[in-house]
Amino acid sequence: MTDANSGLNRRDALALGLGAAGATGLAATAATFGFDMQALAQASKELQKRPIPHSGEMLPVVGIGTARIYDFPLTDSVRLAERAQVIKLMVQNGASLIDTAPSYGEAEIVLGKLFELTKLRDKIFLATKVSVDDRDEQMKSMRESLKDMGVKQVQLMQLHNPKKPEQDIDSIRAFQKEGLCKYIGISSSFDRDYKSVEAVLKREKPDFFQIDYSMVDRNAEERLIPAARDVGAAVLTNLPFRRGKVFAQVKGKTLPDWATKELGVTSWAQFALKWLLGNPGVTAVIPGTDKPKYLIDNIRAGKGPMPDAAMRKKMVEVFDA
Ligand SMILES: NC(=O)c1ccc[n+]([C@@H]2O[C@H](COP(=O)([O-])OP(=O)(O)OC[C@H]3O[C@@H](n4cnc5c(N)ncnc54)[C@H](OP(=O)(O)O)[C@@H]3O)[C@@H](O)[C@H]2O)c1
Repeated sequence: MTDANSGLNRRDALALGLGAAGATGLAATAATFGFDMQALAQASKELQKRPIPHSGEMLPVVGIGTARIYDFPLTDSVRLAERAQVIKLMVQNGASLIDTAPSYGEAEIVLGKLFELTKLRDKIFLATKVSVDDRDEQMKSMRESLKDMGVKQVQLMQLHNPKKPEQDIDSIRAFQKEGLCKYIGISSSFDRDYKSVEAVLKREKPDFFQIDYSMVDRNAEERLIPAARDVGAAVLTNLPFRRGKVFAQVKGKTLPDWATKELGVTSWAQFALKWLLGNPGVTAVIPGTDKPKYLIDNIRAGKGPMPDAAMRKKMVEVFDA
């Protein structure tokens, strides 16, 4: 039987934990979504937090991204149930950050539905973006984002992919003044725009700076991440796996023993995320996470020892070899 409002059938609702609480429900959930309870237990150890420099508020170092993988129709109850489980596990494991954008197709609408289903909106540090140029259009887009997600405010509103050095964030500041977002950010993932992005970052001094940074694309670490630190912006790193390129590069390779012994990593995903978090300029990573087993895996990267500069160098050598 399918619930007409949620589009979920009984099996989906059980998988979500909506109708089955406690250890039995959790074990059933683990079986349904293909992760083991031992991994879950490991993941439950404390997730690290880092301060947002402008406020001192502490932010868990692993969040999730929603580009492409949260873009599907609300009638897709299977994917809805799986993503809801991701959000539930995320919150259970002390994480809170979700990054989205109006340009990610249906993602904001899907998130709205997931908040309704999980009732976890108030546990989420919600970040979205605005990409249009015209000021009135920007205000319209930001209000539409709130409406689509069914929320009164977001924690973070980011200027999406600035391309011109003179671009300002006045409309986001006006949005903030109305109490509709707590923090202001700038976000980019295009190397060709880095000069413009740096100019906007230095002039506007936002609370957050989001940039593409991964083991296969380290360009941001030279100027942009230090520049963000200079203006006191918290740094979020997008594309941490470069949409699978990181995994392609290590395909067939075994994780080095020392990485497991000294950093506690048990997968290349954790290896790649810990490497990012070992950069003291990074506040949090937002890997695109659609599967509960990925969530459990990625969260583990935010626990235990982080690599220092020497260890990060060693990690790069192994990765590049
Ligand atoms: N300009 C911008 O502001 C900008 C640009 C790009 C992205 N972003 C943000 O950054 C987020 C992250 O980027 P992204 O999602 O595009 O790419 P990504 O994080 O580099 O890669 C995500 C993909 O990696 C795989 N994956 C995730 N966890 C895994 C694990 N533990 N083990 C193995 N594979 C795993 C999944 O692919 P499979 O399901 O195929 O295995 C997933 O779709 C976005 O979702 C978005 O929120 C912002």
